[in-house]
Amino acid sequence: MLLHASMLLGFLCLGHTSTAWGFARLLDNTELRSAFSVSRTNSMEGGPKMTVTFDTVYVNIGGDFDAKAGLFRCRIPGAYYFSFTVGKFPHKDLSVMLMKNRNEVQAIVYEENAGEERKVQSQSVMLQLEFGDTVWLRLHGDPRYALYSNTGHYTTFNGYLIYPDTYSYQTHHHQHHPTYNPQQEDLQLQNTEQIKSKAGNSEKEELHREEEEEVQEYDDEEDDGRSAFSVGRTQSILGVNQVGMLQHRPISFDTAFVNIGEDFNVTEGVFTCRVPGAYYFSFNVGKLPQKTLSVKLMKNRLEVQAMIYDDSQGEKALQSQSVMLALKPGDIVWLYSHQRDGFGAYSNHAKYITFTGFLVYPDIPQSPSAAVTTSQSYSAKRP
Ligand SMILES: *[C@@H]1O[C@H](CO)[C@@H](O)[C@H](O)[C@H]1NC(C)=O
Repeated sequence: MLLHASMLLGFLCLGHTSTAWGFARLLDNTELRSAFSVSRTNSMEGGPKMTVTFDTVYVNIGGDFDAKAGLFRCRIPGAYYFSFTVGKFPHKDLSVMLMKNRNEVQAIVYEENAGEERKVQSQSVMLQLEFGDTVWLRLHGDPRYALYSNTGHYTTFNGYLIYPDTYSYQTHHHQHHPTYNPQQEDLQLQNTEQIKSKAGNSEKEELHREEEEEVQEYDDEEDDGRSAFSVGRTQSILGVNQVGMLQHRPISFDTAFVNIGEDFNVTEGVFTCRVPGAYYFSFNVGKLPQKTLSVKLMKNRLEVQAMIYDDSQGEKALQSQSVMLALKPGDIVWLYSHQRDGFGAYSNHAKYITFTGFLVYPDIPQSPSAAVTTSQSYSAKRP
C-alpha cells in the first residue's frame, strides 16, 4: 500500500503541476541554497584598497560571502540576483562598481555631485556565474570619491541564487524517477500483468499511450520552467522632437548578462511572457545633466506599471525602481524613455542602465483547458 501511494504520487508529478512541484522541491533542497545580505556601518574613502568590505552580516546561507574580504565566491553555478545600495559622502563624488572576478565591470552606482547632501543610490543586476567566480563592489580609487555609512546602515549588499544550472537535471531526475527502486518496477510489472489478465490487449495499449503522452507533455515543459533576463545598455538615450506621429519605441539593450528561456529580445528591448506567473522586475537608469529623466515600465501597449522620474538640474546620478507583475502568456514588458527633446537617460560602458526580470512563482493551472483560454495575440500587444 505504501509503495502504491508513492507510485501514485509519481504519476501525479508527471502531470500538470510538475513545474510548480519542481520549483518547490528546488527551494527545499538545502544543498542548492545560496544567499547573503550584509551591511557596512562606517564610511570609506577612495584609496588603493578599493574592495568594499562589510562588518554586519544579516544572512549568509551557504557561507559563500566573506564579509571581511568583501567577496562573494560562487559555489553553485547558476543565475544570481545582486543588489546594492551605497551612501553618498558629503562633498565627495560617488562611484561604486559591481565587479565580476578581477576586472570585469558589470554595473555601476554613480553620482558626480560633490554637494553637501547625504543620499543613497541603488543598482541591481542578475549575473550568470561559474564555480569559483567572485563578485564584489569596487569604490573608485581616487580620494575625491567616498561612500557614506553609519550605524544607520546606508551601505548594503545582497545576492541570492535564482536558478542553479543543475535545475533541469534535478527536476528531470526527481520527477521521472520520484522514488525509483527495483522493487517498485516489480510492482509495476505485476500491475501490468494484472491488467493483461483482466482486460484485453487494446486497453493495455491505451494505458501505455496515456503514460507516454503525460511524459511527453512533461518533456515539453521541462525547458520552460524557468524565465529570467538581465540586460544592460552602454549608451545614453537622448530625446529629440520628431515630426509626425510619436512612436513609442522600447529602450533597447546591447549586453545580456542572463537570458534564460530567451524570453527577452535584447535588440528590441521587449520581454515576452511564455510561462504564466508572478514576475519580479527591476530597472536602474542614469540621469543626464540638464535633462529630465522619465523612464516607465510598460506592460503590453501603453500600460504604465512603474516609473522613474528626476527633473532636478543636477549632474549624473542614478534612479531605481522595482515591481512584481502577474503575467499571462504573450504579455510583453518593456521600458520607455520619453522621446521628446529635454528628456534623456545616461549610460556608458559601466552600464548605468540595467533591466532585470525573473519568474518568482509560476501559475498552477486549474485545469488543462484553463491554459488554452489565455491566448491573446502577441501583435495586439505591441508598443
Ligand atoms: C528580435 O526582434 C527583432 C525585431 O523584431 C527580430 O528581427 C529578431 O529576430 C528578434 N530576435 C530574436 C532572437 O528573436
